[in-house]
Amino acid sequence: MSQDLLPISGTDYVEFYVGNAKQAAHYYQSAFGFQPVAYAGLETGLTDRTSYVLRQKKITLVLTGALTPDSPIAAHHKLHGDGVKIIALNVEDARQAFKDTVNRGAKPAFEPKEETDENGTIVTSGIYTYGETIHVFVERKNYNGLFFPGFIKWEPDFKPKETGLLYVDHIVGNVNEGEMDKVADFYRTVMGFDQLISFDDKDISTEFTALKSKVMANGNMRIKFPINEPARGLKKSQIEEYLDFYIGPGPQHVAMATDDIISTISDLRARGVDFLFVPDTYYETVYQRVGKINEDMETLKKLNILIDRDDKGYLLQLFTKPVQDRPTFFFEIIQRNGAESFGKGNFKALFESIEREQENRGTL
Ligand code: FE2
Repeated sequence: MSQDLLPISGTDYVEFYVGNAKQAAHYYQSAFGFQPVAYAGLETGLTDRTSYVLRQKKITLVLTGALTPDSPIAAHHKLHGDGVKIIALNVEDARQAFKDTVNRGAKPAFEPKEETDENGTIVTSGIYTYGETIHVFVERKNYNGLFFPGFIKWEPDFKPKETGLLYVDHIVGNVNEGEMDKVADFYRTVMGFDQLISFDDKDISTEFTALKSKVMANGNMRIKFPINEPARGLKKSQIEEYLDFYIGPGPQHVAMATDDIISTISDLRARGVDFLFVPDTYYETVYQRVGKINEDMETLKKLNILIDRDDKGYLLQLFTKPVQDRPTFFFEIIQRNGAESFGKGNFKALFESIEREQENRGTL
């Protein structure tokens, strides 16, 4: 890209609105190995919400719950259940990012604001993307505190070890049928992203269900947002199931990178994280499709890790089951050995596995 309309250096944080932030924080500590960083709530002067901040290498999660029934977080949670509300992006100038994106057609979420404490100043601003999801622009070049002004250090004695998660690889959004192009256009014209690739229902379908997807990426390729919409199939697709339970568009999954997926998945499984089931038959043909890889195939099979290859290399990936009560948001764990794609060769096996789960839920 000749000129980056919106320079973004990375994902600043991902904020979930949840029913019980205290318990969710414990889950991300114990199951995923996120480390406690900061806290805000009644003790810090907040009256309507409480937030826990956890971090693992470059991934920062914020878990926020409502303290009162009239809090906007309570309303959001009542409608959508637990889910990602904010995808925050690290920018050089949050005022400029707001001005430019709103001029190019973004719907404002909140005007630029400054927050200051003894560690400096953070400037943020916010715009809406699909559904009720918000991109917050975070300018933290003049701040060296733990997270944000208003947060205090959170230091529990309980600190399970990390699990090898390194950074956010991509974040996928599910949108309504017929809206994928509109959302892709938003990322192109408002955010200055380029389209990396698109998949149609011929690429992503099983006997029963189908979806379409376009992958949008920013100038330096650090931010990748695939956008999915359901396509017509014989039965209800996982995207429709998501839209039915989230009551509209929202973030479907966050892919977190590791450089040792065997160790990471072994660890996550031992800590009780549930992953999608991959049938043994998948491994009967995968060799022919992907050729030689460094990892031991028996170990990958035992851990149900999926493999795909593109012209740049290969990748290993696996998807958790939904991590809250509703069958909506989940995580992907991914290890890239050169490959820059998203596992197209696994789509069919994956969707058949999800259909099996839907069948159990009675939502296929
Ligand atoms: Fe993904």
